[in-house]
Amino acid sequence: MKQQALIDEIATTPLKKHTSVTIETSIKASRQQLLKWVGNKQRFAREIISYFPTDYGTYFEPFLGSGAVWGALEPAKALVSDAFAPLVEIWQILQNDPEQLKQWYAERWHRMMAGEKVAGYESIKAAYNTAPNGADLLFLCRACYGGVVRFRKRDGYMSTPCGAHQPMPPTNFANRVDNWHPLTNNATIAHMNYAAAMQMAQAGDIIYCDPPYSFSQTILYGAQSFHLADLFEAIRSCKTRGIRVVLSIDGTKRSGNTICNVSIPDGLFEREVLVNCGHSMLKRFQMDGKTMQDEGVADRLLLTY
Ligand SMILES: C[S@@+](CC[C@H](N)C(=O)[O-])C[C@H]1O[C@@H](n2cnc3c(N)ncnc32)[C@H](O)[C@@H]1O
Repeated sequence: MKQQALIDEIATTPLKKHTSVTIETSIKASRQQLLKWVGNKQRFAREIISYFPTDYGTYFEPFLGSGAVWGALEPAKALVSDAFAPLVEIWQILQNDPEQLKQWYAERWHRMMAGEKVAGYESIKAAYNTAPNGADLLFLCRACYGGVVRFRKRDGYMSTPCGAHQPMPPTNFANRVDNWHPLTNNATIAHMNYAAAMQMAQAGDIIYCDPPYSFSQTILYGAQSFHLADLFEAIRSCKTRGIRVVLSIDGTKRSGNTICNVSIPDGLFEREVLVNCGHSMLKRFQMDGKTMQDEGVADRLLLTY
């Protein structure tokens, strides 16, 4: 079915069940972040995985980013992937040569600290922009302003200035590498588009999707093209094949039965849960379920099961 026809067909009918979940406070994830990544699910990871089934086969995370949910879940078998090549290079080095990853970070940290901090940072940024690579991206994401690696849409130029903070010392980073490395023993880490990864899933597997939603996010993640309606089609195909899919939605991007002006297909999701919904927000939700968007809900999950 053509994309527009799909969008036309999926009138804004309410989801089957709308579940509100009482969450006392934010729940800590077990691993401290290896990478700083905008839109990471570090704060919500434990809560998100509490909605996963326990009887799944392979865990798929096709929009890996900094892998917060993967890190909290510690699946016995995983295929984790992302379309951003320098990012995947970092994860693959973590898997194949963790000492090299520590060295990448330490070299750049010492280079920046040895001289004038901003000039050191800018030279690493210039090296990345000349030839995008995992080693420079690793350091930049930890040292850049606000931890927000930002790319110019036109040409992918990384433009974030130096952060005001001191990036963590190499020994601390090395501890994080040691903490994350065991996770990679049970994983295939791939550079691929989400659609190709989801195609590989089989009945009984579970897929967690945390896609970019907006135009601004495509700038943040290196200007990859992404269309939510295509993702819905991929999710539908997975559901038909007996694969369970969980989709994260940034609470601010959801309005009624649309996300960023794209309708949520009727019948695709069986449940919706609210994530990190603090007490006062929950109360307001119970008083008026229609105005969640303005109530500061941090995140939502749509589940196909
Ligand atoms: C919101 S982030 C994921 C954040 C992640 N959950 C975390 O905890 O850090 C979205 C990710 O999707 C990736 N991405 C964007 N378009 C993609 C595509 N077409 N296929 C696969 N990955 C894509 C981006 O590179 C980015 O890392």
